[in-house]
Amino acid sequence: MEKNPETTTTQVRADRYMFQTYGRFPVTLVKGDGCRVWDDEGKEYLDFVAGIAVCSLGHGSPVVCRTLKEQCEKLVHVSNLYYTEPQTDLAQMLVEHSFADRVFFCNSGAEANEAAIKLARKYSLEKFGPDRHVIISMNNSFHGRTMATLSATGQSKIQAGYDPLLQGFRFVPFNDVAALDEAMDKDVCAVMLEPIQGEGGVVCPAPDYLKQVRTLCSEKGVTLIFDEVQVGMGRTGKLFAHEHFGIAPDIMTLAKALGNGFPIGAMLSTNKMGQAFGPGSHATTFGGTPLATAVSKAVLQSLLQDGWVTNAEKNGRISQVRTEQPCRKTRND
Ligand SMILES: Cc1ncc(COP(=O)(O)O)c(C=O)c1O
Repeated sequence: MEKNPETTTTQVRADRYMFQTYGRFPVTLVKGDGCRVWDDEGKEYLDFVAGIAVCSLGHGSPVVCRTLKEQCEKLVHVSNLYYTEPQTDLAQMLVEHSFADRVFFCNSGAEANEAAIKLARKYSLEKFGPDRHVIISMNNSFHGRTMATLSATGQSKIQAGYDPLLQGFRFVPFNDVAALDEAMDKDVCAVMLEPIQGEGGVVCPAPDYLKQVRTLCSEKGVTLIFDEVQVGMGRTGKLFAHEHFGIAPDIMTLAKALGNGFPIGAMLSTNKMGQAFGPGSHATTFGGTPLATAVSKAVLQSLLQDGWVTNAEKNGRISQVRTEQPCRKTRND
């Protein structure tokens, strides 16, 4: 088929002017509506990618569009040196619907995990003193692409080329409590994991695994961090994936579907941990702008009130019956 010259131009120009960090499909998308997107030749696609676990309310969501427009006309950005109502509202909603007492807003999953790593280390330093800074994470995990989060990511292909990585990360196989126990020396301050591994291949925890991890961490005074950047925000049929397992972490990170496509991340923790972050200990210019938090608040309200989470739960049960397992595998490599 003849290429639309516009398409060629966009793709050729993108390849000419941008870093080649993405292996892209030769498709230029111009429009979205619900779970469908269209390319610049008018071809319609059913969007199973959803921006990689982001657009849970679909494209062109009226809730998102309306909120964006209204908040844009009121206030887009102010410094975090001031209070804003949307930011406070969203923090309150997240706290009221989770284990957490406190929220820090940022712009992405990697940033949320950076905040979690910093909080875990600072808390440990203040409570237990120095030499207790190691964070254990899992083989095949994914926590982001910044230097700290790629150092925490258990995939050599993500880390390749960036030595020296940050010190103080140790890896064990997912779903292996004995290996975790053995790795938990006196220098460990935190265990960081995705309750269901996403980029590692959609790997579910064994039935009691997370409970056992929680018990180990509690016994040893080690902080438990759940990275719910990919699996959080209702995508598993509960607002947060760990709720399926009857336990709670000390710190949780969110991003992706939190803004349905408007960039926002969040790091949540208990009051006990939160005390380690005082004024000046962590900050970001764009974290929790009125615009981002107004959109995210509308997204969260819709997820909870308009039946999206229960719909995910219902459809999850149908696919579970069809495949006779909750997700593809429960491996421990
Ligand atoms: C579990 C998990 N954590 C963190 C990240 C990083 O998020 P971001 O790309 O927003 O920095 C991702 C991205 O895929 C992820 O899946």
